[in-house]
Amino acid sequence: MKPSEKWPEMLLVWFSDHKRDLPWREAKPRNPYHVWISEIMLQQTRTEAVKPYFHSWMEKFPTIHDLAMASEAEVLHQWQGLGYYSRARNIHKAAREMEEKYGAELPHDKEEIRALPGIGGYTAGAILSMAYGQKEGAIDGNVLRVYARLYDVEEDILKSKGKKIISSLVEKTIPERAGDFNEALMDLGSDVCIPKSPRCGHCPLSAECLAFEKGLQERLPLRTKKKPQLVCEAACGIIMKEGKVLLHKRPSKGMLASMWEFPMVLSESVETSRAGLEALLQGKAEELVWKYKHTFTHRIWLMKAYTLKDGVVPEGGYRWFTPEEYKEIPLAGPHARLAAFAEKLLREEGDF
Ligand code: ADE
Repeated sequence: MKPSEKWPEMLLVWFSDHKRDLPWREAKPRNPYHVWISEIMLQQTRTEAVKPYFHSWMEKFPTIHDLAMASEAEVLHQWQGLGYYSRARNIHKAAREMEEKYGAELPHDKEEIRALPGIGGYTAGAILSMAYGQKEGAIDGNVLRVYARLYDVEEDILKSKGKKIISSLVEKTIPERAGDFNEALMDLGSDVCIPKSPRCGHCPLSAECLAFEKGLQERLPLRTKKKPQLVCEAACGIIMKEGKVLLHKRPSKGMLASMWEFPMVLSESVETSRAGLEALLQGKAEELVWKYKHTFTHRIWLMKAYTLKDGVVPEGGYRWFTPEEYKEIPLAGPHARLAAFAEKLLREEGDF
């Protein structure tokens, strides 16, 4: 019967030779704060993209105490470009909670750690196993995929039934060196047991793998169909005055909360979004040569830039900024790109 009890040990042997050198793995013993921040950064972002953010984060906030003392704007600014900003807000809230309750350290207790903002079962398991040597699993997409193939799990692994099956397999198979084991699964999942065209010829576990034996490795894990993304046309206004541009602070709740953006109107067509922008700013919109498609998890913005003459500044949350000033504030996702374009425009064209 495959796989045998030996595979976790075989994986650890492979890991000792193939472990990736990553900045958050450098501190010996492992620094729990480094593990936490890197795991949150890695949740929706590629490893290579995370590396420079991780370095500059640790320079800016070397300890949980430093992070707790920083303002939310500083934290969001440091996160700018990584996306999914609720992650940064939660990190900040969690740091403040740890400063108050746990002497600015990550707790060792699973329930306490899971109660912190933004820390779910996966992150708690990663911190407890990698930094504190506890025998806890850390089940992410990589781990789900590796187990689905090894054990030929044909349930949908994104649904609760599939997840339950895998979590009980993880519980049964996790060895004492749980931290190394979890990271070995992650490295195997990202370098070898990859989603498309898995590299079974390089896999230390191919002789143990049921999917490989049955030739199912390309078809597993089963995937669910995603809901189609909502596509919005986004008309954005670059309004210039005396070397400054007009920006708007988004509401304190919801998507990209409290971040700054160029005046923007979302609508289903280019014409209605442009007309909406003209109504908002009470001026005539002239098209600029900037457009950009930004993909969020559940929606897409097709952004187009306009400038408006003789407009009126709307009520509520609008302020003028020079490029030097807006480099210091958190800009809402793709608006950071528009800001770079606006800076060029300000330099070239000066005032309107
Ligand atoms: N992806 C998520 N967590 C990771 C880790 N600790 N090492 C490598 N890749 C990861």
